[in-house]
Amino acid sequence: MNIGFSVKETVNKRYSVRTYDSRPVEEDVKAKLLEYANSLQNPLGPKIRFQFIEKETAPNGEKLGTYGIIKGAKLYLGATMPDEEFANEAMGYDYEQLVLYATSLGLGTCWLGGTFNRSAFAEAMEIRENELFPILSPVGYPADKKSVTEKVFRRFLKADGRKPWEEIFFADNFDKPLTKEMAGEYEFPLEMLRLAPSATNSQPWRVVFSDNAFHFIEQRTHESREGSSVDMHRIDLGIGICHFHLAALEKGLNGHFERKMPSNLTLPPFATYITSWIID
Ligand SMILES: Cc1cc2nc3c(=O)[nH]c(=O)nc-3n(C[C@H](O)[C@H](O)[C@H](O)COP(=O)(O)O)c2cc1C
Repeated sequence: MNIGFSVKETVNKRYSVRTYDSRPVEEDVKAKLLEYANSLQNPLGPKIRFQFIEKETAPNGEKLGTYGIIKGAKLYLGATMPDEEFANEAMGYDYEQLVLYATSLGLGTCWLGGTFNRSAFAEAMEIRENELFPILSPVGYPADKKSVTEKVFRRFLKADGRKPWEEIFFADNFDKPLTKEMAGEYEFPLEMLRLAPSATNSQPWRVVFSDNAFHFIEQRTHESREGSSVDMHRIDLGIGICHFHLAALEKGLNGHFERKMPSNLTLPPFATYITSWIID
């Protein structure tokens, strides 16, 4: 698939836009986005369903809300997933590819997994049986100036910061950092992953390079809650893997995803193995 944008340029351009201009998104641009969304084929899990929600369209008239965090947006893009294994990772991958495509068209977006009135938006999304509705984003043109709330929020989240290489990339096992030299031609895909957005900027991804493969691991700060189908950290992993994969494809680096954790890999506490990229 020709992804339709430059990974480096778009990843560097994207940020969470929380203040929007009054200029509406044109119908042909909306159609392009939906067409792109429907063509997505993530390599991690089930298909994701996307739907636009116009702010006025809440069927029961209830005001659709984002608790004052998003200003000026009139158009939202919701996404649903089946309640299945690896749906969170699939959601992260597909939604982020769409976010990057929207960014390349000059649009702003902001992943919302928590700060929105889910029940009001859920009605507008016409949720089907066995579907979960974890994610929503405003879609629109960024305003010239960020609102005060947006500035405060960014500072609170340390939104411009990212963890350094040595805290997230490892060689063979978790006791040895992977340097850029060791990463070789994979420096670029790993750097693109490092810059990815994540819920509360928590960056839960860890990558271990061993035996010609990159192993993706989710690192939590505490024990996960049992029985929760929607999992923001797993969505984050899908986002990071999307950046890595699109960058690898762009550079013509061949490989494939496979779920096979190496037997000699020792995971730290609260870490979960997700998948591996095997270099072909
Ligand atoms: C899965 C996910 C959920 C998020 N949920 C929210 C949210 O509910 N509200 C919000 O204001 N930002 C949310 N964000 C945006 C993050 O706070 C933001 O990506 C992070 O702070 C990094 O900033 P940047 O996107 O500008 O690079 C979410 C991001 C992700 C990836």
